Amino acid sequence: MNKDSLLPFLALEIFAKAKQLEAQGQKIYHLEVGEPGGSPAPRVIEAVKKALPNPQTYTHAKGNIDLRESLCDFYALHHGVKIDANNIVITMGSSSGFLLAFLGAFETGSSIALTRPGYPAYLNILNGLGFKPVEIALRAENQWRLSASDIEIAYKKEPFDGLLFASPANPTGASIPRDEFKKIIKTCKKLGVQLISDEIYTGLDYSQKPLTALEFDSQTIVVNSFSKYFCLTGYRIGWLILPDKFLRKIEMLQQNMFISAPSLSQTAAIIALEEIDYYQNQKQQYQNNRDILTNGLIDLGFEGVKPADGAFYCYVDASKFTNNSFEFCQNMLASIGVGATPGADFDRVNGDEYVRFSFAGKKEDIEQALKKMTGFLPRP
Ligand SMILES: Cc1ncc(COP(=O)(O)O)c(C=O)c1O
Repeated sequence: MNKDSLLPFLALEIFAKAKQLEAQGQKIYHLEVGEPGGSPAPRVIEAVKKALPNPQTYTHAKGNIDLRESLCDFYALHHGVKIDANNIVITMGSSSGFLLAFLGAFETGSSIALTRPGYPAYLNILNGLGFKPVEIALRAENQWRLSASDIEIAYKKEPFDGLLFASPANPTGASIPRDEFKKIIKTCKKLGVQLISDEIYTGLDYSQKPLTALEFDSQTIVVNSFSKYFCLTGYRIGWLILPDKFLRKIEMLQQNMFISAPSLSQTAAIIALEEIDYYQNQKQQYQNNRDILTNGLIDLGFEGVKPADGAFYCYVDASKFTNNSFEFCQNMLASIGVGATPGADFDRVNGDEYVRFSFAGKKEDIEQALKKMTGFLPRP
C-alpha cells in the first residue's frame, strides 16, 4: 500500500474538534457532518427495544432473508424493478459494501474511475487496497454532474476497468438526470467498464423521481445504505445488489471478513422500509433547510451557490475568503462555533478553495450559523 496516499478524513477531524469544544461548553453549529438531524422512525426504535432481550446471534452471511425480501418489495414498489433476494447482500453500511465490491468484482491493481470532487473514502479505500484510482474532474459550470462524454474522454486518456459514482453526490449534491444516467450506462457497456452505483442519497433527490441504475441495467453493482434517508447512521447497515457473476465470491468475502451484518440493525432496517411517510416528511425538511442555506450563502458572498439537486450538502467556492479551506474551517469553528468541511477532503487538486456545508441538521441551527457567519466573514 502506498502510505502517502492515505489521508485523514478532514470532516471527521473538524467534527472531533467541534465535539471537544462542545464538551467545554461552547455552542457548536454542526454544518460539517453528513449525519441526518432527525431520528429513526419511532416504530424502528420500538422494534429494536422489543428485540433487545433476545437478540439473534450471527445471521446468514448475506443477511436475514426477511430483510432481503423486504428490499425486493421496496424496489418493486418504488422503482418497478424485480430483484431476486439471492442477489442481495446486507452489509455494514455502504462502507463495507465498497470493500466487498472492489475485492469481489475486480482483480487487485485494477483501475477504477471516480469523480473529483467525490466522497473521499472511495479514493482512500482504493489506495489502501492497492487499486489504481483514475480521477474524472467535474466542472461547476456543469452543476458538477458527471456525463457520458466525460467518461468517454477520460477513458481515451487512460482506460479503466470500473467506474464508481454517487448520484445524488457528496459533496456537490449533484444528481445525474435520468436520460444522462441511461447514456452513462450505455457508454460503460460499450467500453467494457463495470459500473458501481453508490445510491446512498437516491431517496434524497429533490430534482427528479429517485432512480436506481437497476432500472436500466441488471449488471450494475448497486451499493446502498440505511444511513442517510432512513436515519440509521450508527446502526451500520446497508446493502449490495449484485449481478450473479460476483455473488459467490462476495458472499465468501463477507463470511470471512465480517461474518454477518449486526442482527439488531437488520431488525431495525426491516421496519424502516415500512415507514416511508415518516421519511418523506424528513426529506421535506431537508429541502426547506437547503433553501435557507442556499440563500444565506449567496447573501454572504460565496460564489457558485446553487440549490443542490439532492443529498444534504452545499459545495461552494470560497476563494473570495481563502485559498486554504482547512485553515478557514478551523478558524471559523474556533471563532464562531460553526463547523464546515474543507473542500480538500473531496478534491486534492482544487479543494483548497471550496467548502462544504451540510443542511442535514436542524433549521434553527442553520439560521443561527448563517447569522454568526455574517459577523465572521468580510462583507461582500
Ligand atoms: C457518497 C457516500 N457514500 C457512502 C457513505 C458511507 O456511508 P455508510 O457507510 O454510513 O453507509 C457516505 C457517507 O457520508 C457518502 O456520503
